[in-house]
Amino acid sequence: MKVISAAAVSLAVLNTLALGSILPREKYVKIPFVKNQDGAGNVLGKRSNGHEKFVLANEQSFYSVELAIGTPSQSLTVLLDTGSADLWVPSKGNPYCGSVMDCDQYGVFDKTKSSTFKANKSSPFYAAYGDGTFAQGAFGQDRLKYNGLDLSGLSFAVANESNSTFGVLGIGLPALEVTYSGKVAVVDKKSYEYDNFPLFLKRSGAIDATAYSLFLNDESQSSGSILFGAVDHSKYEGRLYTVPLVNLYRSQGYQHPVAFDVTLHGIGLQTDRHNTTLTATKIPALLDSGTTLTYLPSQAVALLAKSLNATYSKALGYYEYACPSSDNDTSVAFDFGGFHINAPVSDFTMQTSVGGTCVLAVIPQAGNATAILGDSFLRNAYVVYDLDNYEVSLAQAKYGTGAEDIEAIKSTVPSATRAPGYNSTWSNYASVTSGGNIFTTASKNKNTTMNTTSSAKPTHRNKRALQDVAANSATSARSALALPLLAFLLILTVISS
Ligand SMILES: *[C@@H]1O[C@H](CO)[C@@H](O)[C@H](O)[C@H]1NC(C)=O
Ligand SMILES: *[C@@H]1O[C@H](CO)[C@@H](O)[C@H](O)[C@H]1NC(C)=O
Ligand SMILES: *[C@@H]1O[C@H](CO)[C@@H](O)[C@H](O)[C@H]1NC(C)=O
Ligand SMILES: *[C@@H]1O[C@H](CO)[C@@H](O)[C@H](O)[C@H]1NC(C)=O
Ligand SMILES: *[C@@H]1O[C@H](CO)[C@@H](O)[C@H](O)[C@H]1NC(C)=O
Ligand SMILES: *[C@@H]1O[C@H](CO)[C@@H](O)[C@H](O)[C@H]1NC(C)=O
Ligand SMILES: *[C@@H]1O[C@H](CO)[C@@H](O)[C@H](O)[C@H]1NC(C)=O
Ligand SMILES: *[C@@H]1O[C@H](CO)[C@@H](O)[C@H](O)[C@H]1NC(C)=O
Ligand SMILES: *[C@@H]1O[C@H](CO)[C@@H](O)[C@H](O)[C@H]1NC(C)=O
Ligand SMILES: *[C@@H]1O[C@H](CO)[C@@H](O)[C@H](O)[C@H]1NC(C)=O
Repeated sequence: MKVISAAAVSLAVLNTLALGSILPREKYVKIPFVKNQDGAGNVLGKRSNGHEKFVLANEQSFYSVELAIGTPSQSLTVLLDTGSADLWVPSKGNPYCGSVMDCDQYGVFDKTKSSTFKANKSSPFYAAYGDGTFAQGAFGQDRLKYNGLDLSGLSFAVANESNSTFGVLGIGLPALEVTYSGKVAVVDKKSYEYDNFPLFLKRSGAIDATAYSLFLNDESQSSGSILFGAVDHSKYEGRLYTVPLVNLYRSQGYQHPVAFDVTLHGIGLQTDRHNTTLTATKIPALLDSGTTLTYLPSQAVALLAKSLNATYSKALGYYEYACPSSDNDTSVAFDFGGFHINAPVSDFTMQTSVGGTCVLAVIPQAGNATAILGDSFLRNAYVVYDLDNYEVSLAQAKYGTGAEDIEAIKSTVPSATRAPGYNSTWSNYASVTSGGNIFTTASKNKNTTMNTTSSAKPTHRNKRALQDVAANSATSARSALALPLLAFLLILTVISS
C-alpha cells in the first residue's frame, strides 16, 4: 500500500540513478532503487490551541525506480510498493496537474506521443491508496524498459485522473491486482489475474522463481536494492528465517493470502543490559515498503510509549518524550516466531521544534487492526518475498559495502530455514496485552530453541541520532492512519468466489 504523507510527496527531492543490470547466466534481476529524500530540512508547524507552536521536522522518504516507456521513450519515476500489485503511471492531461500539484517532478506519460502504445480493450483501472490518493484510467502495453531490462508487454495502467504526483510499481501478489480484487473487478463482475511485474519476469525467463529480496539499506544511504529471483547473502546477518504469510481475508473467500501479512509474535525493548517484553500477543503485520512509517494497534503503541516514558500529547497527537541521546542503544525487538528483527528506537523517533522533545513515530491503530511495518521497520530487515510459496524470509539487515554474495532462487529460498514458530501463526484478533516473554521460547514454543538472527547487539553504529520521518502534521498523520485499512477493506470485502 502506498502511505506517504502529502508533504512528503511534494517535498521529496528526486535524484534517480538507474543502474539495473541483467545477468542471464545467473538468472536474477537486480534493481537498485533510490530513496527520495527531502534534504532541505523543511519544517511544518502545528498550532496547539495558541499555547506553543510545535514543529515537526519533515524529512520523509520513499523508494522509487525510474522507467522508460514508449517510443520514443518517456522517463518516469514510480514508487516501489510491495503493498500493491499493479504498475500505473500518471497521464499527461490529468486534470489534477498544474494548479493543484506539480506533475513534472516525477514525469507523466503521454500515450499519444508514443507510436507503440496499445490500449487494452476493456481493462479499466482504479486504485485507492492508504495516503488518500487515488488513480484511475485504463490498462495498456508499450515498450517498457528499466535501464537495460526489456519489460515490453508488461501491462500497466495509464491514469488520466489521479491526485498522486507519481505512479506506483506494485510488486505484490497477483490476487491484489485491481483486476482481481479491486473495485473495477467487483463492479464489472469480471475478476481475473494478469502477469504483473514479478510474474512477468518469471514468465519471460529472467528469473526461475517468483521471489525477490528487498534491502532498503541504512537510513543514511541514498539507495537500496531489490533483487528479483535471488538472495544476496552479504546483506544480512544471522540466519534467514522463513515464516508463512497469513490469510486475513479467508472469510471473504480468498483461498490464499493476498498481501504480505505475517504473524508478529510480540514486541520488546532490548538494550545491552536489559530485555523487556512489552507484549507477546500475536498481531497480523503487513510488510509494506510503500508505507513510510510503522503502525501498530493502539494498545501496543501505548505499551511502547510507557516503556519509553513517553506521554500522550493531545496537542501534538503523538506520544512525546525526551529525545534519546545519539548513543542510546535501545532497540525495539520484533518477534516473528522465535527470532527477532531489531530496530533502533531512533528509527521511530521524530524530533519536534521544542528543544529536546521528541515524539514516537509509531502510529496507533484503533480496533482490530493489522500492523503495518513500513520503511522505518523494513530498513532493519532483509526480506525475501516468496510469491510462489506464500512465504517470507527475514533476517537482520547488514549494512556496509562488502562484496555481494548472490545466489539465485530456484524453488525455495537458499539457506533459509523455517522459523521455530513457523506453525504458530496468528488466527484471530485479540486485544494486545502486556506480559509474556519474547526473549525466551520456553514459555511459548516448547519444540523450539531460541535463536535471534544475531546474538550480537543490533547494528546501530553511527545512525543519525534522530530519525525525522515525520508526517507533515499530527492531523495528516491521523487521517493517513485510518485510511490504509479502509481502502484495503473497501477493495477486499466485496468479492467472494
Ligand atoms: C491487456 O491485454 C493483453 C493482450 O490481450 C493481455 O495479455 C493482458 O493480460 C491485458 N492486461 C490486463 C491488465 O488486462
Ligand atoms: C485525492 O482524492 C481523493 C478522492 O477525491 C480524496 O479523498 C483525497 O483526499 C485526495 N488526496 C489528496 C492527497 O489530494
Ligand atoms: C479518463 O478516461 C475515462 C475513460 O476513457 C473517461 O471517461 C474520462 O472522461 C477521462 N478523464 C479525463 C479527465 O480525461
Ligand atoms: C536479550 O535477548 C537476546 C536474544 O534476543 C540475547 O541474545 C541477549 O543476551 C539478551 N540480553 C540480556 C541482557 O538478557
Ligand atoms: C534511550 O532512550 C529511551 C527513550 O527515550 C529511554 O527510555 C532510555 O532510558 C534511554 N536509554 C539510555 C541508556 O539513555
Ligand atoms: C519520565 O518522564 C517524567 C515526566 O516527563 C520525568 O520527570 C522523568 O524523569 C522521566 N523518567 C525517566 C526515567 O526518563
Ligand atoms: C475484534 O475481533 C474480535 C474477535 O474476532 C471480536 O470479538 C471483536 O468484536 C472485534 N472488535 C472490534 C472492535 O472490531
Ligand atoms: C510444522 O508442522 C509441520 C507439519 O505439521 C512439521 O513437519 C514441522 O516440523 C513443524 N515445524 C516447526 C518449526 O515446528
Ligand atoms: C511440537 O512438536 C509436536 C510433535 O513433535 C507437534 O505436534 C506440535 O505441533 C509442535 N508444536 C509447535 C508449536 O510447533
Ligand atoms: C539456532 O542457531 C544454531 C546456530 O546458528 C543452529 O545450529 C540451530 O540449528 C538453530 N536452531 C533453530 C531452531 O533454528
